[in-house]
Amino acid sequence: MTDAGHASTLRRLRRSDESLPWEDEEVDRLGEGARRRVGDYWQGRAGAELRVAAAFSSLGAKLRQTGTEPAILELLDASIANELYHSALCERLATRYLGAPIARPEAGTVHLPPLPDVDPPMRAALYAAGLCAVNESIATVWLEHCFARSTSPLARAVNQVHLSDEIVHARIGWAHLVSSWVTNSMRREIAGWLVPLLRTNVEQWIRSSTFQGGGVPEHGIPDPAEQREQVLGAVRNVVIPGFDYVGVDVSAAAKWFRREFG
Ligand SMILES: [Fe+2]
Ligand SMILES: [Fe+2]
Repeated sequence: MTDAGHASTLRRLRRSDESLPWEDEEVDRLGEGARRRVGDYWQGRAGAELRVAAAFSSLGAKLRQTGTEPAILELLDASIANELYHSALCERLATRYLGAPIARPEAGTVHLPPLPDVDPPMRAALYAAGLCAVNESIATVWLEHCFARSTSPLARAVNQVHLSDEIVHARIGWAHLVSSWVTNSMRREIAGWLVPLLRTNVEQWIRSSTFQGGGVPEHGIPDPAEQREQVLGAVRNVVIPGFDYVGVDVSAAAKWFRREFG
């Protein structure tokens, strides 16, 4: 990583949320039902962000064992700090919307699929693909839409913070997949995993609690149908072309996606 990149990583780790518009009057003007919906959403996200931090720690340990670029490990360490920060931010947002403190989310634990018949470098590549290239790329597209639909100053500011970090998290996966630590024969093997990888991620997104219940678009929660469209659009327009770009054969995945989602 360059000196400038390192400095920006350090800045990221040191930032504070005091500059965000917490007093946003649009929050106070919101009806009780919508306010609870948004508060519950942030409370759920506070826990989810901790689970992502735990998953990134586990990915980092595996990549340290099997090898990757030092810059990727550095980005991963910064990303763990990001997700912990996101959790604290989400907790504060839940408190602001609900008007009362929430229970602290439980420390994140995560059980990545054991994949016993897969050798360690391939397993690490599959985790990087699933957690970062697929999941965080979907998150980036989805958050961009949440940001675009937000009008409340607080929702816009918070979505902007999340969005700028998720782009970095997605880059970790793509950077590892395109690095020399992933050989051409591994890329051929990854092609065979792409359909289950995409299916699992799409199902998780579409079934997540964020997609249940109505939207409050001006506060960053678009309607469920719109959110589904964003997730599918991300897979169609970013994730599948991304794997193609890094040299993974996407023909079976593209066929599966067309069959399932048109
Ligand atoms: Fe996050
Ligand atoms: Fe993330």
